[in-house]
Amino acid sequence: MVILLAVLVVGGLVWLVQSRSGRDAPARQAGADAAWVPTRPFEGRTISEADIAGGRIVVSGLTKHYQDVKAVDDLSFAVEPGRVTGFLGPNGAGKTTTLRMLLGLVAPTAGIATIGGVRYADLDEPARRAGGVLEASAAHKGRTGRDHLRIICRATGAPLARADEVLEVVGLAAAGRRKFGGYSLGMRQRLGVAAALIGDPQVLVLDEPANGLDPDGIRWMRDLLRALAAGGRTVLVSSHQLAEVEQLADDLIIIAAGRLVAQGSLASVVGSISHGGRTLVRTPDVAKLTAALDGDAVVTPAGTDEVYVTGVDAAAIGDAARRAGIAIHQLVTQRPDLEDAFLELTKGKAAIR
Ligand SMILES: Nc1ncnc2c1ncn2[C@@H]1O[C@H](COP(=O)(O)OP(=O)(O)OP(=O)(O)O)[C@@H](O)[C@H]1O
Ligand SMILES: [Mg+2]
Repeated sequence: MVILLAVLVVGGLVWLVQSRSGRDAPARQAGADAAWVPTRPFEGRTISEADIAGGRIVVSGLTKHYQDVKAVDDLSFAVEPGRVTGFLGPNGAGKTTTLRMLLGLVAPTAGIATIGGVRYADLDEPARRAGGVLEASAAHKGRTGRDHLRIICRATGAPLARADEVLEVVGLAAAGRRKFGGYSLGMRQRLGVAAALIGDPQVLVLDEPANGLDPDGIRWMRDLLRALAAGGRTVLVSSHQLAEVEQLADDLIIIAAGRLVAQGSLASVVGSISHGGRTLVRTPDVAKLTAALDGDAVVTPAGTDEVYVTGVDAAAIGDAARRAGIAIHQLVTQRPDLEDAFLELTKGKAAIR
């Protein structure tokens, strides 16, 4: 019995397709274990300069039309090795479609997506170059997580012992011998990551990997992805959890309605939006404070006895209150965060198509 799950092992599947079509199949099958260089990537190995150069993702003019829906519309961006790049956009923006095109699962209507200058389908050793955790895949309900991974090891030419290594990395060592049908959502997510890591890939592409993870799991995922990027790998991760992305990502790509709306470092994207910050003021005399502030101040209600003030800084508000003899119970300056930037940048473009 086969069920659909939130795990996709791109490398293994493409390798299987390629080997069925005859490309390199006998050599890989015969010499797979002997040719495999044990990498032990999570014990300090860093990838070489050449590997790092090979891990750059470039998307150029990428377009995908489904009937009259422009799921992805002339999208261009680059993702750098050694960094975690957050891939953001409202529901239906085209994130999953873009990642699927990058991993050779969907043919673009136009444009190209490359890893190290080569399309995924043309990579020599796809499982070693790029690992993906996307939305849907088939897995056997009655099979253990460990057996699931061992099958992928066989398909990709990795030694079977690699299954136990990656189970350990994702914190599933104890659950590895339990049947997949009994896995929780978070366990399935972890198994998906384990599968993607089997080939110790240079490039890791993850579609909403934090879904279903508990707080401990979210921190684990953050630490893992940061460690992979610190070792020179390219990490591209889509997410709707903006507070988490703020802690995780170095760079951002934001799309809406299939098109690029922002690209750059986290700081530059958040810093690009119009309002430079606001001050939350709590006072028992809101009306008097409003009258006391100078003409540049814009006051908006925030709650009982609370207002947001923009246009003047906290010092100016405090001085004005002192001059007018108004008590101030709280004065907090709030800088714009990623949520503010995201909402402003995607405003009016968020409609699900
Ligand atoms: N196979 C398909 N057939 C028809 N339309 C599709 C197909 N795949 C995606 N689309 C459409 O393309 C658009 C982009 O979808 P996509 O899944 O890429 O968005 P997303 O950014 O991943 O959204 P979410 O945040 O909800 O996961 C949507 O309008 C969707 O309905
Ligand atoms: Mg999606």
